[in-house]
Amino acid sequence: FSEDEEFDRPRLAAHGPVRVRVPAKINLHLHVGPTRPDGYHELTTVYHAIGLYDEITARRGDTLTLTMEGEGTGELSLGEDNLVVRAVRALAAETGHDPHARLHLKKQIPIAAGLAGGSADAAAALVACDQLWGTGMSRDDLAVVAATLGSDIPFLVLGGTALGTGRGELVSPILTGGHTWHWVLAVAEEGLSTPVVYRAFDELGGRTNAGPPDGLMAALRQRDPEVLAGELANDLQAAALHLRPELQQVLDAGIEAGALAGLISGSGPTCVFLAEDGRHAALIAADLEERRCCRAVRTAVGPVPGARVL
Ligand code: C5P
Repeated sequence: FSEDEEFDRPRLAAHGPVRVRVPAKINLHLHVGPTRPDGYHELTTVYHAIGLYDEITARRGDTLTLTMEGEGTGELSLGEDNLVVRAVRALAAETGHDPHARLHLKKQIPIAAGLAGGSADAAAALVACDQLWGTGMSRDDLAVVAATLGSDIPFLVLGGTALGTGRGELVSPILTGGHTWHWVLAVAEEGLSTPVVYRAFDELGGRTNAGPPDGLMAALRQRDPEVLAGELANDLQAAALHLRPELQQVLDAGIEAGALAGLISGSGPTCVFLAEDGRHAALIAADLEERRCCRAVRTAVGPVPGARVL
């Protein structure tokens, strides 16, 4: 993205509020490898940022405060354990700046949904406070801080479509020639805990179906949704379905509604469906809504940029 050049110029501290928009992610490919000595699983994944956004506004303040509205309000802790608060403190420690800011989070990305909503907010907080404080970190510097906070966070600083390795924190962009893909999301009533899904994956024998993502990479370059449909894969899907068997009905409903393919997003429980184009996505979404098989249906395009100042 050309905005990256803009981002990497030295910047002055902001006086007014800084607004940052950050997307959700889905995994087009998720291969789970062996457990590492640190307890994480070795991953090979293809991240894809989609146009479903959270927004953080950061203002100057004498202390660190966080308020929120939207998805997860009342459920999500706004204390020291919140990833946004942890991100602000990590950036302050890294740069020697006081961890002072008044932050407001507007949430559209559902929580515990396999869409990396919490990670997205942490990425947004890093980009917002970097701008507010004028710390002048490069995007790569921010990705290093991001990696200490969570495996998906460096990707949400970057955005687009990217290969993730290590525990997911090592990201390299995949250039897809500007093609836009159309997705439909079926959001479940209740969230799923990522560690619980990984544990179920291990208990089920750690079976992997997703090989190397070579076919997927080729499909992305081919820009043919029918080809891409055959290459989407997620090793955590069986574990998510084991914990929530009813999600199989949602996946079946999406296919009956005409989707080219359906899969669980990340650790779930969100089901994501590939459409031919925007019109097709709207038709699938309307059909899924009529079936009342999930809490909410959303359409989104991808890839989109990562956390960006508006
Ligand atoms: O890195 P993050 O804090 O987002 O990970 C949440 C949890 O997901 C970890 O505590 C771990 O249980 C699981 N996980 C894993 N292997 C990964 C990434 C996450 O086992 N590569």
